[in-house]
Amino acid sequence: MPWTKKDLLGLEKLTAEEITIILDTAKAFSQIATRSIKKVPALQGKTVVNLFFEPSTRTRVSFEVAEKRLSADIVNVNIAASSVTKGETLLDTVKNLCAYRIDAIVVRHSCAGVPHYLAENIEPSIVNAGDGMHEHPTQALLDIYTLREKFGDLKGLKVAIVGDISHSRVARSNIWGLQKLGAKVTVVGPSTLMPREIEKMGEGVEVSYDLPATLKKVDAVNMLRIQREREQQVQFPSLREYARYFGLSTKLIDQTPESLIVMHPGPINRGVELSGTVADGPRSVILQQVTNGLAVRMAVLFLVTGGTKISEE
Ligand code: CP
Repeated sequence: MPWTKKDLLGLEKLTAEEITIILDTAKAFSQIATRSIKKVPALQGKTVVNLFFEPSTRTRVSFEVAEKRLSADIVNVNIAASSVTKGETLLDTVKNLCAYRIDAIVVRHSCAGVPHYLAENIEPSIVNAGDGMHEHPTQALLDIYTLREKFGDLKGLKVAIVGDISHSRVARSNIWGLQKLGAKVTVVGPSTLMPREIEKMGEGVEVSYDLPATLKKVDAVNMLRIQREREQQVQFPSLREYARYFGLSTKLIDQTPESLIVMHPGPINRGVELSGTVADGPRSVILQQVTNGLAVRMAVLFLVTGGTKISEE
C-alpha cells in the first residue's frame, strides 16, 4: 500500500498500515547514517521551512539534519526576529512563505490544532513537530521505532508511560500509535496529572497510580518530563515528593525485571522523573531514541513530499 497523505498531523487518524509504512521507510533511511557520505538526493530541488514557535533542541535539530541528509534546501525562520512580532497573523506569515513555492513546513506551536489549520489552508505539506498538549507524532514514531528495534513485533508488548499525562502531547501520540500496533499501554502518574477521560482513548489503556507495581509487569517504561510551563496551577506539593512516588531511581530500577528498558523523550529533569544514574545506565535507550528520530524524520519528510522509492546511491 503506498503512502497517500500530504501531511503528517498526528497518529490518531493514521492506520496501523500507514504507521508501518513510516517505520519501514525509516528503517531503510537508517542505513544512510552508516555510510561515509551521509546524504541522498531524495529531496533535491525541494524547499522545507522550519517554523518553531516554541523552544526545541532535539526535534528542531533532528528535522534540520534530516532535511540536509535528504539534500533539501532549508529555511529556519527565526520567529523572535520575524514580522510575527509586529502583529502579523499566523496564516499571513505562512501564506507569504508559500509564495516562494516551498514544498513543506515543519511546525511547532503552543496551540493545539495549528498544524491542522495550516494544512487545510495551504498547499505545501505540513509536518506537526508538536502542537500544544495535543500531539507530537514524530516523537511517538521514534519511540515506537525504538521499541520495534528492541522487541520486534509490538503485538502484546506492555509499555508504561509515566508522569505528566495531562499536559503531554508525547503521551497522547504514543497511546494512539502503540494501540494501533497492538501494544498494551499503562499510564502512571499522580491523579492530578491524569486526564479524566484517559480510559476512553482506547481499550488498551490502563491507569495505575503505583509505579513500583507497574514496572514489574511491563517491557518498557517511557518517563515523561514534568511540564511546569503548561501547568495552570501547581499539581503536586513538591518536586521532591513527585520524585519519591513517580521518579525512577536506581533503587527502584533494581527491583524490576532485567529486560525492562527505559525511555525518555527529553529534555530530562535529572533527579525529578529520572535519576542521572538511570538515564545514563545500561537500561536506558534515550540516546538511541534520538538517533532513531533522524531516520523517522527523514522518512516522514520523504513520504509527505511524494517520495516512493529510496535511492540505493
Ligand atoms: N522531545 C522533544 O520534543 O524535545 P525538544 O523539545 O528538545 O524538541
